[in-house]
Amino acid sequence: MSEKVHPVLASAKKNALIDNDTYQSWYKQSIKDPEKFWAKHGKRIDWFKPFTKVKNTSFQGKVAIKWFEDGVTNVSYNCIDRHLKKRGDQVAIIWEGDNPYLDKKITYNELYEQVCRLANVLKKHGVKKGDRVTIYMPMIPEASYAMLACTRIGAIHSVVFGGFSPDALAGRIVDCESTFVITADEGVRGGKPIPLKDNTDKAIDIAARHHVRVKNVLVVRRTGGKTGWAANRDLWYHEETLSVKPECKPERMKAEDPLFILYTSGSTGKPKGVLHTTGGYLVYAAMTHQYVFDYHDGDIYWCTADVGWVTGHSYIVYGPLANGATTLMFEGVPNYPSVSRFWEVIDKHKVNIFYTAPTAIRALMSAGNDPVTKTSRKSLRILGSVGEPINPEAWEWYYQVVGDKRSPIVDTWWQTETGGILITPLPGATALKPGSATRPFFGVQPQLVDNEGNVLDGAADGNLCITDSWPGQMRTVYGDHKRFIETYFSTYKGKYFTGDGCRRDKDGYYWITGRVDDVLNVSGHRMGTAEVESALVSHDTVSEAAVVGYPHDLKGQGIYCYVTLMAGLEGTDALRKDLVAHVRKEIGPIASPDKIQFSPGLPKTRSGKIMRRILRKIAEDDFGALGDTSTLADPAVVDDLIANRQNKK
Ligand code: WT7
Repeated sequence: MSEKVHPVLASAKKNALIDNDTYQSWYKQSIKDPEKFWAKHGKRIDWFKPFTKVKNTSFQGKVAIKWFEDGVTNVSYNCIDRHLKKRGDQVAIIWEGDNPYLDKKITYNELYEQVCRLANVLKKHGVKKGDRVTIYMPMIPEASYAMLACTRIGAIHSVVFGGFSPDALAGRIVDCESTFVITADEGVRGGKPIPLKDNTDKAIDIAARHHVRVKNVLVVRRTGGKTGWAANRDLWYHEETLSVKPECKPERMKAEDPLFILYTSGSTGKPKGVLHTTGGYLVYAAMTHQYVFDYHDGDIYWCTADVGWVTGHSYIVYGPLANGATTLMFEGVPNYPSVSRFWEVIDKHKVNIFYTAPTAIRALMSAGNDPVTKTSRKSLRILGSVGEPINPEAWEWYYQVVGDKRSPIVDTWWQTETGGILITPLPGATALKPGSATRPFFGVQPQLVDNEGNVLDGAADGNLCITDSWPGQMRTVYGDHKRFIETYFSTYKGKYFTGDGCRRDKDGYYWITGRVDDVLNVSGHRMGTAEVESALVSHDTVSEAAVVGYPHDLKGQGIYCYVTLMAGLEGTDALRKDLVAHVRKEIGPIASPDKIQFSPGLPKTRSGKIMRRILRKIAEDDFGALGDTSTLADPAVVDDLIANRQNKK
C-alpha cells in the first residue's frame, strides 16, 4: 500500500481555520473534558432556550444518547432566519439543472419565503409536530424546501432516494407510517425522465395493502410530463404554496426531538430507519462542515451527493445552511452532456470547495485527462471524497489532475448512523496519505478490536469501534430500539461498532479497509446482501440465493449472485436478464446484479449455514485460497461453483 505523504500545503495553511497545533490541542480537550468542549461548541447554533445539560450518553445496557437535552431550538430557524439580517440577499442555494442551460440562484430571503409557504401548506393539510413526511424528490431546490419546511413545524422527514423502486418506497412509507408524501411529476437525469409520481402512485397502492393510507401527495411540476391524478389526494405544489402566507413561526423543538429518519441497509433484514434528532445533529453537521472543508464566508461549496443519502442531508442542506454558506445543488450526472460536466460547473459557478465520491472520480479518470484539463478549475481550493475507500491511484489523479496539486483532499469517513464526518483530514492541519482518512475529528474516539473484542493498540488491523458518543450520533432505529442495541452495541459490549475493518499505522492514521459484515458498497451506495437475496428469491424460478461483493474497477464493489433454481429449471441468459430486471424492480437500479451464477448447490456447513467466505473467494476468482473447506456438508459443490464461475480472469 502506498504510504506516500503529502505535507500540509502552505497555501492551505495560510488563513486555515484550524492548523495542526490547534487540532492537537482541541482534540485533547475534546477527549479530556467533552462536557466543556461541547458546551462551547454547542453554542454555535442559536437556542430559543439555552441548554444547561451537555452530555448524557451511555453505550451500556439500554443505550441512551442525549445531547444538550434541556435546550430548545429549531433547525430551519438556524438554517435560515438567523442569517437574514446579515445575508438575506446572499445566495443560499445555487441550483444547476441537468440541462446545462438551466440554473437558478435562491437567496436566504427567498429560501425563507419558500420554506415558510411550504410549512404552511403542510399545516393546512393537517401535518403536525412528530408526523412523518416522506420526501421522494429529484435534485431540485424544492427538495431542500421540503426538508426545511418539515423541520420548521417539527414534522419528521424521511427522504427516499429518487432511484428507489415503488416497492422500496412503499416499504419505507409503511415502516414509519407516513401519510404525507412530497414528490415531483418526473425527475430528469442525463436527459432522461424518471417517473417519480407514477412510482409514488404505485407505492401508495402497495402501502395501502399494508394498512398505511397516504392522505396527500404534494407534487412539484418539474417536467410537465403526464401523470395519474387522484383528485381527493393529490395537490399541486405551485397552487398550494400560493394559497398560504409567506411567514410561519418556527416550532419550538427540544434538542432530542426527532429531526429525520433515513433508511439504510444493514447486514440482515429490511433497511433500518436511522433516527437523528435536532440539536446534536445540527451542531455536529455544521461544525464538521465548517472545519473539514475550511469553509470561509463567501466560499462557493458543492457536494455532488443526492439529498436521498445522508451526505446530502448533512453536507448539501443542514451543515452548509446552518453556516450561512452558499451550497450548490446539482440535478444531473457526471457524464451528461459530456464527461467534462463537473469541471464545467466548477468554472461556471466558481466553485471553491468540491466534495464527491471515489466511484465518480474513477469513472471520470477512465475518460482521460483532456476533459478535465480543457477547463480552468482555478477557483478550486479544497477537494473532498466520501462513500468508500479511495484507491491511491484515483486519489493521485484527483489531486494532480483535477486539483492541479493546489488543493488538499479531505477523505472523509463516516456513515448514515454517525450523522457527520468522524475520521478526516483538516485542510490546514493534516499531512495527507493517499487512501487514508487520517485522523479523528474532535470528540471522536476510534478503537480497533480483534474478533474476540480485545483492544489493539498502536499500529494494528482490526474492527473499527467508537468508544464514546459524539453529538451527531443516531439515537435509535425508528420503532425498534432493540435492533439499535443489537446492531451497534452488542458485538463489542459497550462500544459502537461501525461494521468496518480498519488499519491504524505507526503515525496513528486510520485506513478504512471496507465492511467486515454482509453489507456491500456499490458505487458508494450501501446495500445489504440479504436485501438482494430476498429480492432474488421472490422470483418464481428461484429457490435459493446467496449474494456477495467482488472488487469492481469503477463501482468499488460489484454484486455477484449465486442462484439455485427450482427443480427442473435451466439457467439461461434470458433468465439472467429477467432476474436482473426483477431485482431492479424490487429495489432499484443501484441494486442491479453484475454477475449471476446458476448453481445447483451452495456451500453449506453441516448445520446449514452458507459459507460466504468461499463464495467471496470464487467471485474474486481467487479459489486457490479457499481456506478450510473440511466443515462443508458436500465438498463437491465447490468444484461445480469453480468450474462455472462468472469472473474468470
Ligand atoms: C459506509 C457507510 C457517509 C456518507 C456516505 C456513505 C463506507 C464511507 C468512507 C471513506 C472508506 C468509507 C464505510 C462506511 N465509507 N466513507 N471515506 N473511506 N470507506 O454512508 O451509506 O451509511 O455507508 O461507507 O464502509 O461504513 P453509508
